[in-house]
Amino acid sequence: MSPHLLSVDSLSRDYVEHLMQLAGRMEPFAQRRKVTRVLEGAVLGNLFFEASTRTRISFHAAFSRLGGSVCDTTGFTFSSMAKGESLYDTSRVMGGYVDAIVLRHPDQGAVAEFAEATRVPVINGGDGPGEHPSQALLDLYTIEKEFTRLGKRLEGAHLLLTGDLKHGRTVHSLIKLLSLFDPLRITLVSPPGLEMPRHLIDLVASRGHRVEQRESLANDFGDLDVIYTTRIQKERFTDEMSETFAGISQDFIVDRAFLDKRCSPTTIVMHPLPRDSRPGANDLNVDLNGDPRLAIFRQADNGIPMRMAIFANLLRVEDYIERDAQDV
Ligand code: CP
Repeated sequence: MSPHLLSVDSLSRDYVEHLMQLAGRMEPFAQRRKVTRVLEGAVLGNLFFEASTRTRISFHAAFSRLGGSVCDTTGFTFSSMAKGESLYDTSRVMGGYVDAIVLRHPDQGAVAEFAEATRVPVINGGDGPGEHPSQALLDLYTIEKEFTRLGKRLEGAHLLLTGDLKHGRTVHSLIKLLSLFDPLRITLVSPPGLEMPRHLIDLVASRGHRVEQRESLANDFGDLDVIYTTRIQKERFTDEMSETFAGISQDFIVDRAFLDKRCSPTTIVMHPLPRDSRPGANDLNVDLNGDPRLAIFRQADNGIPMRMAIFANLLRVEDYIERDAQDV
């Protein structure tokens, strides 16, 4: 059996802490201050059947930075799935060609089904509204780095998760990952109808965290350490939902006025990206660009060392990373 990364459900706190430390070791290689060829000869299959910029490119770059090479396919049109090939057959065939696979698919559960049929490690790069575990790992890595810079600790921190918490796979994975750690205060704000699934709230509460749900950003939140905002995922709406949510209130926008009024100079603002920059969008305003509290681009950068750590661990080369390393 190959080890896969399909869901945060399979991760222990010890394993997550190990990956955080491993990602730290990857930083000089991610920034190309050092070079390693530890995955030379290995091939990654990077299969994306849903739109992506960060996940696809950063997995590709992470594998390349470890010395491996990458085969990409994007969209169903250029895959034989367009001719009716099943996930099972695609998986069996790909497992004979490559050493690891990253798969993004629009259907929840499709990546797990794919992983059952192959001999090589499979990483869930996002399965519909299901999970996005590597994003949650890089989000936690970002929080830890930002907190170290600010002299803060994760224990007891207050995090606000806002936006489309119903369809946002990044927040589904992140809230489960956070729940593995010492008690936190988590406030959830979403438009009515787009709330965090109940079973996730119950899971986090059962692990001793303080979870509160609200319908607006208008009131005071006290001391917020992290604001994690997400895009309203209109592409996952049914026709009926599109009508219901046609005019979502602008009250859900995180912008400079909200930060200046409600937050402290040490509150950090995160977003998995992409943020919606079209007129009428409801997530994260561009008026925060240049504000040091805006951590979104540092967060995106952290995708490389974290994804290098994931590959190094799943492909069992982490003990050899530094052995043949060279300074650039
Ligand atoms: N955060 C994230 O998954 O971004 P992409 O959709 O661009 O991969």
